[in-house]
Amino acid sequence: MRLSQRQMQFVPCTEDYWEFVRDLRTGPETGKWFLQQAQITSQQQRTYMKLHWRNYFIAILEARPVGFVGSIDNDIRVCVHPDHWRRGIGRFLITELMQRFPHASARVKERNEAGNALFRSTGFVRGSTTSSRTDTGDHVPTAVWTLPDPALREA
Ligand SMILES: CC(C)(COP(=O)(O)OP(=O)(O)OC[C@H]1O[C@@H](n2cnc3c(N)ncnc32)[C@H](O)[C@@H]1OP(=O)(O)O)[C@@H](O)C(=O)NCCC(=O)NCCS
Repeated sequence: MRLSQRQMQFVPCTEDYWEFVRDLRTGPETGKWFLQQAQITSQQQRTYMKLHWRNYFIAILEARPVGFVGSIDNDIRVCVHPDHWRRGIGRFLITELMQRFPHASARVKERNEAGNALFRSTGFVRGSTTSSRTDTGDHVPTAVWTLPDPALREA
């Protein structure tokens, strides 16, 4: 069932959530949609998050983390736990993120139906297809999604 925004909280990605983010980043149903596929150790995650945690946020539902979103160099990454897909959490995360990083954009694998639907439904506009390099050296077709200029959005 679809959640209302009032049922969720958007909180900073403090240390308690770093392993949750790692689990989603590397999980069998979720990890495959990221460009970087390499396994991430707990220690690597700690090192990375110490540097970047301020750019990441967590969706909380009934006191538990259910998804994360982040923007590094205006490049968005977002993931929701599979148990909670299609309840509006992805949309909630992107809407909140864009209030803090209004110029961020997303690169989404073309085959990623859910990822592309999420950005379409939150007002992003799809640009040309590009080829993105993965950490295994492969090139995969990706759709680039950007939000129209805020001034145009309000016009
Ligand atoms: C992409 C992802 C974050 C979506 O999260 P979610 O919480 O299920 O998304 P929402 O419930 O907020 O849905 C947002 C929109 O996408 C649509 N959507 C979601 N999953 C879909 C699917 N599998 N097929 C078609 N549309 C889908 C919803 O219908 C909704 O559209 P609407 O607002 O017009 O009704 C989630 O599928 C996920 O974590 N995937 C793995 C990671 C990933 O692909 N990240 C994106 C690239 S970084």
